[in-house]
Amino acid sequence: MFLLSAFVSAAVASQVSAAVVSGKASSFAGSTSTFQFPPADVTATASLIDSFFPDASEVGFAGPTPTGDAAESIATAPALSPVKGYFPLVRPNTSDKKGKDFDVVDSWANLSPMQSVRSFGLDNTTEKIPEGCKLNQVFLLHRHGARYPTSGSSPATFAANVHAAAGNGTFVATGPLEFLNTWTYRLGAEILTPFGREQLFELGIGFRVKYGDLLKNFTGLPVWRTTSEERMVDSALHFAAGFFGVQSYQSSYYQLIEIEQDGFNNTLAPYDQCPNANNNISALGGEATAAWTNVYLVDAQKRLASFLPGFNLTISDVAAMQTLCPYETVALGYSAFCDLFTEEEWKGFAYGIDLDFWYGDGPGNPAVSAQGIGWVQELVSRLTQTTITTFDTTVNGTLVSSNITFPLNQPIFVDATHDTVISAILPAMNFTSLAAGGPLPLDHIPENQTYKVREISPFASRLVGQVLSCPASDTPTHIRWVLNDGVLPQTGINGCGEDPNGLCQIDAFIAGMKQRIEEVDFAFDCFANYTFSLVNDTITNGQFPK
Ligand SMILES: *[C@@H]1O[C@H](CO)[C@@H](O)[C@H](O)[C@H]1NC(C)=O
Ligand SMILES: *[C@@H]1O[C@H](CO)[C@@H](O)[C@H](O)[C@H]1NC(C)=O
Ligand SMILES: *[C@@H]1O[C@H](CO)[C@@H](O)[C@H](O)[C@H]1NC(C)=O
Ligand SMILES: *[C@@H]1O[C@H](CO)[C@@H](O)[C@H](O)[C@H]1NC(C)=O
Ligand SMILES: *[C@@H]1O[C@H](CO)[C@@H](O)[C@H](O)[C@H]1NC(C)=O
Ligand SMILES: *[C@@H]1O[C@H](CO)[C@@H](O)[C@H](O)[C@H]1NC(C)=O
Ligand SMILES: *[C@@H]1O[C@H](CO)[C@@H](O)[C@H](O)[C@H]1NC(C)=O
Ligand SMILES: *[C@@H]1O[C@H](CO)[C@@H](O)[C@H](O)[C@H]1NC(C)=O
Ligand SMILES: *[C@@H]1O[C@H](CO)[C@@H](O)[C@H](O)[C@H]1NC(C)=O
Ligand SMILES: *[C@@H]1O[C@H](CO)[C@@H](O)[C@H](O)[C@H]1NC(C)=O
Ligand SMILES: *[C@@H]1O[C@H](CO)[C@@H](O)[C@H](O)[C@H]1NC(C)=O
Ligand SMILES: *[C@@H]1O[C@H](CO)[C@@H](O)[C@H](O)[C@H]1NC(C)=O
Repeated sequence: MFLLSAFVSAAVASQVSAAVVSGKASSFAGSTSTFQFPPADVTATASLIDSFFPDASEVGFAGPTPTGDAAESIATAPALSPVKGYFPLVRPNTSDKKGKDFDVVDSWANLSPMQSVRSFGLDNTTEKIPEGCKLNQVFLLHRHGARYPTSGSSPATFAANVHAAAGNGTFVATGPLEFLNTWTYRLGAEILTPFGREQLFELGIGFRVKYGDLLKNFTGLPVWRTTSEERMVDSALHFAAGFFGVQSYQSSYYQLIEIEQDGFNNTLAPYDQCPNANNNISALGGEATAAWTNVYLVDAQKRLASFLPGFNLTISDVAAMQTLCPYETVALGYSAFCDLFTEEEWKGFAYGIDLDFWYGDGPGNPAVSAQGIGWVQELVSRLTQTTITTFDTTVNGTLVSSNITFPLNQPIFVDATHDTVISAILPAMNFTSLAAGGPLPLDHIPENQTYKVREISPFASRLVGQVLSCPASDTPTHIRWVLNDGVLPQTGINGCGEDPNGLCQIDAFIAGMKQRIEEVDFAFDCFANYTFSLVNDTITNGQFPK
């Protein structure tokens, strides 16, 4: 109906007021609206820039520019501020409006903005460098920021269903759903939202304030890695802009962009080299979520269907409506879908995604540790300054064989990746405490749940490895891992044992990782044609049981 997207906003604006007056559905309900800036026929003109808009170095007169010392708050501050809040997103309420303590945003799992995790069980330690230790090196593995839905996912399908019904003239929404009569689908796909850019910019700034002092030990420029997808490059650049500042980041480091595509070895996108990550084995996650959705959304479906006479509202539609809440909020700042659901239903939503990750991308999937193990090989290579020579996982032999694209001696390593890759690397490294609660049941939310995707892979998630010397020296003695600001116990890693600060002796840790590399059977777990089903899926290590 609307062929030119530019016309949509004007058309929508005039019809919105008409629909509000009559209380009826508009034929454009559920249609997709898009916007692009600059307009296609407008570009920045080089000659105009040359003549009228010289850059700062050409203009000169920068004023005094003393730089001050590098920050290292991770060691110097008495306590660190948690990441808390998500400006400028509007905090939703629930339909049962039970109180002000429950925050819907905490129930968005991998669609939640990262906020600091209070504890993974080590209650008396924080990410701050332990007393008596010195920071020697840091590893950062981070997720991209908030994005639009991935291509072909349920929100767009729901919009298409609404639009089809609106075109039929059979669609009338009433009560709390009345907004649907004039609702249009305003989301893109795949790329970062403006809020997602903010998250990575802030991560870059935060990392500079905490770890900036390590820049002093670079002899050349850092080489940091991301993958080729638009949101991955955008995230890496925003991180760097935050870390170095927008006037200088492009000349302050090298950005390696590894191809993310079927057939290309890439430890930051390992599913492209793992057939069982793209078939009925990986589909276990979706199956688990579907089973749970048919439990927790039954009431919501009945409740909401009564406000949509003439529309066959399925449980899948209701799940899509719930999914629209986080996606619209992180993209548009606000979503009318959020307040349609109760507190219990939001807890159910989070649990549905926990199930998806556990059985599809986490400890409960037999092809998951295999996907994470390539990055672990690279980690061992970097920690031991030993070049990788055996290529039997997703490691890219060409890239890691060059000390230009894969330097081993950096004080600060930064790798950008995806939610499902962080969730694969954790079981590959044997962080078993996250799986301590055991397999997740499909019909209820368990007490004492230890596996929560909001704590593992939210938007802008970060896994930080701190290489330390205790007592302080230039020779590292320990390592520990901090996931979204919470220190991870390393008790599952052979040789590490219990430590109140989550520390492991560096040699024991490296030996443990080498043992994991032996334990994880990449060729079998990723390539073998095996049967595996939710009925008997009790694994907690992301490996096919042998
Ligand atoms: C939700 O609404 C209730 C009732 O108006 C109010 O008491 C509560 O503070 C609200 N919660 C939030 C998070 O706005
Ligand atoms: C943390 O410290 C408090 C006070 O010293 C102590 O009572 C508590 O048992 C400690 N918790 C853990 C998990 O070590
Ligand atoms: C950086 O290198 C210098 C000289 O080798 C050394 O004294 C200093 O301790 C190093 N800093 C860190 C954080 O390792
Ligand atoms: C639209 O109308 C057609 C023909 O009556 C019907 O087959 C179809 O199911 C309707 N679609 C919706 C979404 O109501
Ligand atoms: C390794 O990565 C480079 C750059 O992304 C790519 O051109 C090359 O094809 C990759 N090699 C393999 C075997 O995937
Ligand atoms: C509603 O949709 C479901 C699922 O697609 C289908 O099984 C059912 O027959 C539909 N009901 C009506 C009345 O169209
Ligand atoms: C790419 O990975 C495969 C294993 O999946 C391996 O056999 C191959 O040698 C790797 N190629 C390179 C260039 O790293
Ligand atoms: C990289 O390797 C080459 C050849 O082995 C060596 O000459 C060079 O010093 C190395 N560069 C760095 C930065 O380590
Ligand atoms: C949950 O933890 C509490 C306190 O540690 C314990 O009493 C309870 O038995 C646990 N429940 C389950 C189902 O493990
Ligand atoms: C990893 O954990 C499993 C238990 O799930 C254990 O059997 C194995 O020895 C551990 N491996 C290492 C290297 O820590
Ligand atoms: C996997 O094995 C099953 C049963 O043996 C067989 O039907 C199927 O074709 C095999 N799939 C592939 C991809 O080889
Ligand atoms: C799991 O159960 C299926 C049948 O539901 C069976 O074919 C398969 O061999 C079992 N797998 C394991 C690892 O026990």
